[in-house]
Amino acid sequence: MAAMSLFFLALCAPALAASHYDARAPTPNPLWRRGSSRNVPPAGFYDPRNGNGSWLTSVPDTFPAGLGEPLNAIILGSSDSSVLVDQQTDGGWRNYMFSVGFGSECLGQHDGSNQGANLGDGNGLLNQTAVLRWDYGDPVFGTCTETVEGGNHIRYWTQDGKKADSGAIFVAVSYEKPIADQHDIIFDGYNLGRDWFVGNATNQSSLVPTTQVTNGSTYSGQTSYGGYTYHTDVTYVSGFLPNTSIGVNHNLTVSSNTTNALDGLVVLLNVQIVSKPSSAGIALSPTRPWQLLLSALLTASVPAFLLL
Ligand SMILES: *[C@@H]1O[C@H](CO)[C@@H](O)[C@H](O)[C@H]1NC(C)=O
Ligand SMILES: *[C@@H]1O[C@H](CO)[C@@H](O)[C@H](O)[C@H]1NC(C)=O
Ligand SMILES: *[C@@H]1O[C@H](CO)[C@@H](O)[C@H](O)[C@H]1NC(C)=O
Ligand SMILES: *[C@@H]1O[C@H](CO)[C@@H](O)[C@H](O)[C@H]1NC(C)=O
Ligand SMILES: *[C@@H]1O[C@H](CO)[C@@H](O)[C@H](O)[C@H]1NC(C)=O
Ligand SMILES: *[C@@H]1O[C@H](CO)[C@@H](O)[C@H](O)[C@H]1NC(C)=O
Ligand SMILES: *[C@@H]1O[C@H](CO)[C@@H](O)[C@H](O)[C@H]1NC(C)=O
Ligand SMILES: *[C@@H]1O[C@H](CO)[C@@H](O)[C@H](O)[C@H]1NC(C)=O
Repeated sequence: MAAMSLFFLALCAPALAASHYDARAPTPNPLWRRGSSRNVPPAGFYDPRNGNGSWLTSVPDTFPAGLGEPLNAIILGSSDSSVLVDQQTDGGWRNYMFSVGFGSECLGQHDGSNQGANLGDGNGLLNQTAVLRWDYGDPVFGTCTETVEGGNHIRYWTQDGKKADSGAIFVAVSYEKPIADQHDIIFDGYNLGRDWFVGNATNQSSLVPTTQVTNGSTYSGQTSYGGYTYHTDVTYVSGFLPNTSIGVNHNLTVSSNTTNALDGLVVLLNVQIVSKPSSAGIALSPTRPWQLLLSALLTASVPAFLLL
């Protein structure tokens, strides 16, 4: 057990040495553009169907063929433009998701499965930008627990093609079973995963009641991470996703004859930054003496661990 911990520490040491944030920080997507060229419609996003897109992802190799998973949450293009940038610095998307309790995959390793989405923006079908997982309250190793035990996870895509450049982030949320069950989705896992995500993003003290939410339901609240505090307003809307089990991936296990795989509701999140660190750099660089010492120790220890 101790050897295992040392091994993990050794693996992560370079990342920890650079900055403790980097241990679960992603490689930012270089193609991600800043908001300046966005053309945000009043709704905060463009309906993918207007550009030959779909509200369901495209999952490879399903049986029967052609099943998909719901794009059941949208970070609106009217959100703070910093939050729409796929980065950890400046209060970006990754930092926002840390505040909600989601981190990048275990030790930076993608589990391999990809899904495509066509957001109707002219970019056609693209694989998800990345997968983020519930971190069980542990920013460094929590997503490793998620990979093994299962839990909430998301895939996301940005609507930023020339034909519909809202800058909105389309998210597919679902709650997975443990890896021993091949990461199937739990019963009602698309609707429950969405609502637990909403509960986390708005800092609710009790669960969002999945059987009672309806078109027009709203939730609001604040989360914070790395010195940034975010205010998130959520509205439930119908009319975009179908209320059905037909054509939905894992529909045999997520639905019953009284509960549809999808209840037909999408959540729209408007996220604003309400406070920032007084000097944004301080929160992100290891400038405190104990951090420098830890960095030095870890860096020096790596070769020793690797030789064991
Ligand atoms: C519409 O989307 C489908 C599936 O993504 C694709 O096969 C088809 O070529 C697209 N049609 C147009 C006109 O873009
Ligand atoms: C998406 O991922 C699959 C592998 O799962 C790969 O074969 C395919 O080329 C990728 N598509 C794009 C557009 O990158
Ligand atoms: C937050 O997310 C976790 C993991 O998905 C879930 O167990 C918990 O119930 C959520 N909290 C709320 C208030 O929804
Ligand atoms: C989240 O809610 C708890 C109480 O339920 C509160 O103590 C905490 O300050 C809230 N977090 C933020 C960032 O407002
Ligand atoms: C949902 O509610 C809004 C008003 O809040 C209304 O404009 C819209 O038509 C409703 N959608 C459906 C599909 O009933
Ligand atoms: C799942 O979707 C497939 C494909 O549309 C459909 O044939 C099947 O009846 C659905 N199963 C359930 C349980 O809804
Ligand atoms: C619904 O499913 C239950 C078992 O899950 C079964 O007992 C019942 O007969 C089903 N009802 C209908 C109308 O198919
Ligand atoms: C979805 O459809 C079922 C009937 O199949 C209905 O009972 C339920 O209220 C609908 N859900 C929503 C959110 O409209």
